[in-house]
Amino acid sequence: MARVAIVTGGSRGIGEAISLKLQEQGVTVVANYGGNDDKARAFTERTGIKTYKWDVGDHEACLEGCARVAAEVGPVDIVVNNAGITRDGTLARMSYDDWHDVMRINLGGCFNMAKATFGGMVERGWGRIVNIGSINGQAGQYGQVNYAAAKSGIHGFTKALAQEGAGKGITVNAIAPGYIDTDMVAAVPPQVLEKIVAKIPVGRLGQADEIARGVLFLCSEDAGFVTGSTMSINGGQHMY
Ligand code: CAA
Repeated sequence: MARVAIVTGGSRGIGEAISLKLQEQGVTVVANYGGNDDKARAFTERTGIKTYKWDVGDHEACLEGCARVAAEVGPVDIVVNNAGITRDGTLARMSYDDWHDVMRINLGGCFNMAKATFGGMVERGWGRIVNIGSINGQAGQYGQVNYAAAKSGIHGFTKALAQEGAGKGITVNAIAPGYIDTDMVAAVPPQVLEKIVAKIPVGRLGQADEIARGVLFLCSEDAGFVTGSTMSINGGQHMY
């Protein structure tokens, strides 16, 4: 029977590319989304991929959402924790809410989704969790103490949970994308983005599909010996 995957934030940007790539390989994909109903509906019409709305930063909503997916679609074998937001600003300008929202959604979402699905993976002896981190969690970024802390936390979370899953057929890995051509990066002021792109050795932004291919490998049967790792896909921007 086809594996079942949940991709959080799976109807737009990098998440959309991941959902489509997994679907292409015969995985039954469910895309979680947090906000825009019209875009989610259009995504389902275009792709046939079911969408489920809940806030990944809300613990109870995650438990309920994942239980609903398991009942309506099937037991969840693969989780891609992709949902994330930015609330950029220098520390002086960053409010507590800007800090807390990013930690709650970007990092808390990984915990909430793992709590909702890891036990079932253990019972069935197979699972794949892929967490989308960021180059800015590895290297830091001016104006992103919240986002860099949350993404860096994702990398630690990945290595720790990988140790718990390793003897149970569950791999837990992270991908650290660089600057990818999405709405999130388009929101960076153009003069700032220009300077960032100038420092990418490959000389361009990445494409969402280039991240999705990495996710596909980590979710495959072939990747059973890859766990606790971080795959950097960033055009050579952070080569250490
Ligand atoms: N290093 C050192 N100094 C810097 C700097 C940097 N990287 N960037 C800006 N500064 C300095 C400026 O030169 C300026 O100095 P002066 O006041 O002396 O002239 C000062 O900091 C203020 O700069 P800004 O005018 O940019 O400040 P601002 O408050 O208007 O904006 C900001 C700050 C919102 C953080 C803006 O710089 C910004 O958006 N930066 C981009 C942050 C970024 O890369 N976000 C990534 C989003 S995409 C993403 O996160 C996906 C992913 O995973 C990669």
